[in-house]
Amino acid sequence: MDEPLVAARLRAAGCVFAEDEARLLVATAGSPEELDAMVERRADGLPLEQVLGWAEFCGLRIAVDPGVFVPRRRTEFLVQQAILLIRGDSTPPDPPGPLARGDSIPPDSPGPLIPPGTPARPQAVIVDLCCGAGAIGAALAAAVDRAEVHAVDIDPVAVRCARRNVPGYVHQGDLYQPLPTRLRGRIGILAANVPYVPTGEIGFLPPEARAHEPRVALDGGPDGLEVLRRVAAGAPDWLAPGGHLLIETSERQAPLAAAAFAASGLTVQVATSPDLNATVVIGTLTPS
Ligand SMILES: C[S@@+](CC[C@H](N)C(=O)[O-])C[C@H]1O[C@@H](n2cnc3c(N)ncnc32)[C@H](O)[C@@H]1O
Repeated sequence: MDEPLVAARLRAAGCVFAEDEARLLVATAGSPEELDAMVERRADGLPLEQVLGWAEFCGLRIAVDPGVFVPRRRTEFLVQQAILLIRGDSTPPDPPGPLARGDSIPPDSPGPLIPPGTPARPQAVIVDLCCGAGAIGAALAAAVDRAEVHAVDIDPVAVRCARRNVPGYVHQGDLYQPLPTRLRGRIGILAANVPYVPTGEIGFLPPEARAHEPRVALDGGPDGLEVLRRVAAGAPDWLAPGGHLLIETSERQAPLAAAAFAASGLTVQVATSPDLNATVVIGTLTPS
């Protein structure tokens, strides 16, 4: 199948960006047989990134296995905010290049979002909680010199995938439970893209997410903030003095999320990116 034929097959299956996707599939398939199989899986509704086996994130190619949450481009904003905090200044890193659409791989890579080699304090500890494929941990590890990076997920399929992406320690378990106790009071950046879709709204998600991403990656409980509240409640035990907790939410959830951070004793701010349609709640453990 050549590229125009692939695009026609994808268009017939309802793929809006059929030409872009056809180009990526043709470039990624190792043989005509593999291309046929990939086109059929995509036409059956599998997310493009699970079909390709990778997603573009902060200029990195992140391996994405079937059944693992696909890293979203909006989450690059959380990484940007973490880098700003690590740098200790307010100079925003270069914005990502124009996106082909909200949550998909753009046809042309925008290049590295964050220049590698951002200096960190010696032995800076970075944790990617609820890591999925480990995109946040991998991007921070690529951007920050000498950081000790840990990632955690409860889902063994995600943990296996994250081990392919994160140059650091990947633990399986519930939130903080699998982290080594020596990290208590030592984490400089605690980044978490937790599940935050309210249970009653899961049915409104696009079929790609509903059918091919695990429920544990999406369902945030009645108001979408159940996991976030648990992460915020545990953060003061694990953050270093002056350390930061960053969690992605929706704009609508941000006030309640900020209240949960404040209830844990963190100083709170909310950062938003209209371009990426992203909201990140940031809490800081004020040194006493
Ligand atoms: C929205 S996905 C985000 C994945 C990744 N951080 C990203 O941005 O691509 C949420 C992830 O949290 C994990 N998760 C859900 N509940 C968890 C828990 N109690 N402890 C650890 N991980 C959890 C899910 O398995 C899923 O991989």
